[in-house]
Amino acid sequence: MKQINITTTFSVFDSKEELTADLLDLMNQAIEIRKKAYAPYSKFRVGCAIALDNGKIVLGSNQENAAYPSGLCAERVAIFQAGAIYPDSKILKMAISATSDEKPVLAPIPPCGGCRQSISEYEFKQETPIEIYFMGESGEVYKSDSLKNLLPFMFDKNYL
Ligand code: THU
Repeated sequence: MKQINITTTFSVFDSKEELTADLLDLMNQAIEIRKKAYAPYSKFRVGCAIALDNGKIVLGSNQENAAYPSGLCAERVAIFQAGAIYPDSKILKMAISATSDEKPVLAPIPPCGGCRQSISEYEFKQETPIEIYFMGESGEVYKSDSLKNLLPFMFDKNYL
């Protein structure tokens, strides 16, 4: 028997104001778009802004449904939109921010497991890492240099 240890690394910014101007703009777009979330059930609003290598920014917010599993997270709304509209562009960065109508969200909110798997597909396809920045409504911003830090033992098409 042997053990395998997998280490993942994140950078932590004390607040979004520590980000470079471009990233602060991307995060502010995630904050703006989260206001348009359709979240009547959870009251939890998530926004995602994606920067592409063609200079475009693609946005998404979570979209809920009375049949709960039929809703979709902000990250997947955004990344599927990027894949649908700009299939040949690379995704450089994703900024994510979350808030709640019911309580303060001060901790950085990472993408859920399903979103990690969806993001991994695009990182794998484009063969270059995607930087991921995530925060709550205020406070610290976590940065991952690649989706791999969030999903270290990922399933990909090589297993098929
Ligand atoms: N949500 C996201 O949009 N992204 C995540 O990564 C976590 C969860 C949404 C889904 C649902 O509309 C609400 O937040 C509560 O789970």
